[in-house]
Amino acid sequence: GKITVTVIKADVGGFVGHSSVHEELLATAREQLAKSPLLVDFHVTHVGDDINLIMTHRQGVDSEEIHKLAWDTFVACTEVAKKLKLYGAGQDLLADAFSGNVKGLGPGIAEMEFFERTSEPIIVFAADKTEPGAWNLPLYKMFADPFNTIGLVIDPKMHEGFKFEVLDLLENKKIIFNTPEDLYDLLVFIGAPGRYCIKSVYTKAGEIAATSSTQRLNLMAGRYIGKDDPVLIVRCQSGLPAVGEALEPFARPHLVSGWMRGSHSGPLMPVSVADATPSRFDGPPRVIALGFQLADGKLIGPQDFFADKAYDRAREMALMIADYMRSLGPFEPHRLHLEEMEYTTLPLVLEKLKDRFVKA
Ligand code: F6R
Ligand code: MG
Ligand code: MG
Repeated sequence: GKITVTVIKADVGGFVGHSSVHEELLATAREQLAKSPLLVDFHVTHVGDDINLIMTHRQGVDSEEIHKLAWDTFVACTEVAKKLKLYGAGQDLLADAFSGNVKGLGPGIAEMEFFERTSEPIIVFAADKTEPGAWNLPLYKMFADPFNTIGLVIDPKMHEGFKFEVLDLLENKKIIFNTPEDLYDLLVFIGAPGRYCIKSVYTKAGEIAATSSTQRLNLMAGRYIGKDDPVLIVRCQSGLPAVGEALEPFARPHLVSGWMRGSHSGPLMPVSVADATPSRFDGPPRVIALGFQLADGKLIGPQDFFADKAYDRAREMALMIADYMRSLGPFEPHRLHLEEMEYTTLPLVLEKLKDRFVKA
């Protein structure tokens, strides 16, 4: 039968501030998941202040039981976070109670169901201090850029290209682009990652290859809460990008939105789990990559890919870019455009100064 890989993440309390997750929360999450008879296997990790529940099971996508399991796990972690008075305890549990599906309730979710191949290598990417659109550029490179993925050119199984499902987060619409045919049309949209996000990538035959936690923006308390630190699952090898082709886009840190107060642009730095502790100006934004071989749904791993020395230069480059961007202080483009900032005092300041604004 088919296997489902489900990754659900939430920030239910930071240690210290928004920088990391306390070990007691991770232990609580492991205890909760270990009790479930539904899971084939699981792995609990974190990136920055976000807990990631990586689970395999046979319930399919959008399973109420699996979503409830994740919700209850985060509720249990919140109890601990409250006891330790961790920062922002329960912050991503936006609803008072679980109601059938975690989508729209605060946690981020990526899941895919497929027949496990003879050998099934997957990579789970998870990022902190950024938004789902952060995956646009790397997914484009993995599945559509021959300068990144030589398989597109020389592997007959990849040569016909892929299908990209793109979500318009503002209007809640989706569209499929075929590559390489629709390459330029695709880029018109995904080059604006604050609004258009790649949800999934499929082979031309319709087999799922990658899926992200991109979801409709939640309109809460009259404003969009969209910068929910995203996750991404990518299947690799045998007609899909090789592991190294899936990791390669992160060798050159790209600028993403997020960082301090969800209101800045900065480099996405690839790090090991041990280094997934954003601290400088609450950042810079981090990404981890955990590799697993599935064996009848068992998660054999993880391999902590960005612990590899080959990413040292990427980190150095990210730190150089961070220095430069920080030197701009409160000026754009380090600071995001007014409409994209998660915090803004503009209305208050405008109100205060309204009599001093005169016709120019
Ligand atoms: C960014 C982030 C942090 C906080 C910042 C202020 O996504 O989580 O940079 O925005 O630490 O946090 P508050 O407003 O909770 O004091
Ligand atoms: Mg937080
Ligand atoms: Mg976070």
